[in-house]
Amino acid sequence: MKLFIDSADIEEIEIALKGSIIDGVTTNPSLIKKAVEKYRGRSGKGKLDMQTYIEDILRLVGRSRPVSLEVAGTSYREMVREGKTLYKRFNRVARNVVVKIPVNPSLKLDSVSDFDGIKAIHALAQEGIPVNCTLVFTPEQALLAAKAGAKMVSPFAGRVDDYLRTKIGKKFGKGDYFPAHGIVKGKALVEDNGVISGVDLVAQIAQLFSLHNIQCEVLAASIRNPRQLREAALAGAHIATAPLAVLKQCTQHEKTVEGMKKFTKDIVPEYAKILKP
Ligand code: E4P
Repeated sequence: MKLFIDSADIEEIEIALKGSIIDGVTTNPSLIKKAVEKYRGRSGKGKLDMQTYIEDILRLVGRSRPVSLEVAGTSYREMVREGKTLYKRFNRVARNVVVKIPVNPSLKLDSVSDFDGIKAIHALAQEGIPVNCTLVFTPEQALLAAKAGAKMVSPFAGRVDDYLRTKIGKKFGKGDYFPAHGIVKGKALVEDNGVISGVDLVAQIAQLFSLHNIQCEVLAASIRNPRQLREAALAGAHIATAPLAVLKQCTQHEKTVEGMKKFTKDIVPEYAKILKP
């Protein structure tokens, strides 16, 4: 089971790396925007050299840890062109670039898909470029992406939960836990075409891949709290990506603090002495 940090903030990535827990990084355009706004403001120079910034991240993360960089285009041609550009421009730095392609780049819900995302995944995979298929909300999207050659698929667990809660008008905070076994409204489980929670989506994809021996990693994304991360891991995710705050929360428990207070209080001088070099 691998753990990634979901961030484009180089300071956060460094903290996670120093914590010795990180096997890779995922970014998306919104996370890049957040990082640019943070560092642009701080330097006061009004701009940030994006190429150098991304190169610094790739170098810091290092060769054996994949870093997902997302395309911006919304058509097959644009996505393939951008995917190749990203790979050519950045993979030389630390050989760790994975290109992130949306499963369907359409900006209109009712537009009939021409398989642009799927075709782009296939074209890049054929060139030996590793692809992380993003914005996955159904097991069938994951299946098509895997068949096209994606190395990883990213079900957005937290956003599934947001969607289900919004459907029934339930108010919620971003980090709130949503039961993996779903929630009931009236007498029925709230669902999205057979998906009852973000963790359920992860579980269904993991089961589908395992049943048919599909060699594609399930990357549980949009993880909002430690319990969801745990449940995604138990559901069979090969990777979970989470923000730094959630990774930090994974170390916490009030009984751990209580235990630490007692143990540190009980250290006798004789014991303290033998701990010194
Ligand atoms: C995945 O790779 C995305 O970057 C991310 O997990 C989205 O998370 P959010 O739904 O919390 O924005």
